[in-house]
Amino acid sequence: MKHQTLTPFPAGFLWGASTSAYQVEGGWNSDGKGPSVIDNAHFSDKIADFTVTSDHYHRFKDDVALFAELGLKTYRFSIAWSRLYPEGEGELNVQGAAFYHRLIDELVRHDIEPLVTLYHFDLPWTLEEKGGWTNPATIAAFERFSRTAFELYGDRVKYWLTINEQNMMILKGEILGTLPPGTSDPEKTLYQQNHNMMLAQAKVIIACHEMLPDAQIGPAPNISCVYAASSRPEDVLAANNFTSIRNWLYLDLACFGRYNAVAWRFMEEKGIAPTIAEEDMSLLRQGKPDFIAFNYYASATVGADIQSETEGRQRHDQQLAGIDSTVYVGTNNPHLKKNQFNWYIDPVGFRITAREIYDRYHLPLIVTENGLGAFDELTAENKIYDDYRIDYLQQHIQQLQLAIGDGVDLIGYCPWSAIDLVSTHQGISKRYGFIYVNRDEHDLKDLARLKKKSFVWYQQVIRSNGQHLDSKVDY
Ligand code: BG6
Repeated sequence: MKHQTLTPFPAGFLWGASTSAYQVEGGWNSDGKGPSVIDNAHFSDKIADFTVTSDHYHRFKDDVALFAELGLKTYRFSIAWSRLYPEGEGELNVQGAAFYHRLIDELVRHDIEPLVTLYHFDLPWTLEEKGGWTNPATIAAFERFSRTAFELYGDRVKYWLTINEQNMMILKGEILGTLPPGTSDPEKTLYQQNHNMMLAQAKVIIACHEMLPDAQIGPAPNISCVYAASSRPEDVLAANNFTSIRNWLYLDLACFGRYNAVAWRFMEEKGIAPTIAEEDMSLLRQGKPDFIAFNYYASATVGADIQSETEGRQRHDQQLAGIDSTVYVGTNNPHLKKNQFNWYIDPVGFRITAREIYDRYHLPLIVTENGLGAFDELTAENKIYDDYRIDYLQQHIQQLQLAIGDGVDLIGYCPWSAIDLVSTHQGISKRYGFIYVNRDEHDLKDLARLKKKSFVWYQQVIRSNGQHLDSKVDY
């Protein structure tokens, strides 16, 4: 669809930026915080660990002041479950809870709307030791933790996200720490965990609606459109398979309260379908979200049986749990460029993805992650000329605006990330932020905050409500 005129971003559009607790806070064991699966995971010694990260736990006031200067209307962050409940359940750690009171107060003081993720990959370690998401007791623990968060912060927080990228935790369980090492039946375990997380999510949505009638809550999966490698019907079918397994399995359960038919048959045939109790489906039908948040970095391309070059496939979409070549084979997309980490860059895919989600569910959408990881360079004058990030964000925002013109009800855009933080498994040198944090993988230096060129650019974007995307800025 070619539009004659551009539809402006709506008034009150939530221009924001995102982080997650374990990647930005540091203070990994401060004030009684318990360990999470991330603290006990084994990452390469060559990259930064998660003990200090960007030290936001101790510097949040300065950071929020910078977010305000950037002009953020909203700031998406997550609560570390094991700061509130060091063992995932039991006694509330009042000191840990106090940190989020301070952070939220500071945001509100600066007129920044808090957008809170309840769970972003960092399951408390004690729960993991008891079986993690395989153990139904974790469902009750998550509900209890979430109810506590609603009680403590619900007077100031109107927007809540349940679980970050549940689909990636299932599809990439080994990397993201969802799957306990040595699990004998990994695929079946993961899809049972998925079912349990869905039940937990439904309970938390119901609790939120009960306790905070004015608040809104939604899931935050990673959704990407999937292209067929060619117009060959078998390739198109493979793309359709993968879309169901990668995307709709998760959102159909959240929004329609039922399993996607293709994804369900796929799990049944592989003998990895979860065990479902009688009351589960009625619970899932009751816990309906108010909006859908989604993270988008790049599209995927698949075919039926390509004897393919696997080089260059996106991290998110290679060797996914439970997938085999009878369903789809990932392949390269010759029409797209890649970033320094071999991830595809596909702004048009962003528009397609937003349209596909909206067409299917008809719920308001908010983008909770989108961004470019890059090796930024600090000049001798303490400047960071990240024009490549500006280009990436500019092209993606343009496509979002076109999606709004296509009829998509989009309420906000929160790129990843507000400030530099430690990547999931590629260290601090893979930077995403508008604000540079002066440290490297092992040398913490002074952890000073420096505005990148993209900071000044995004400031102008927000100030003009998305009208001035021009990359020429005074920096
Ligand atoms: C998303 C996660 O998968 O992608 C974030 O929600 C993550 O936690 C982001 O940091 C970028 O991925 P990476 O691997 O480059 O950190």
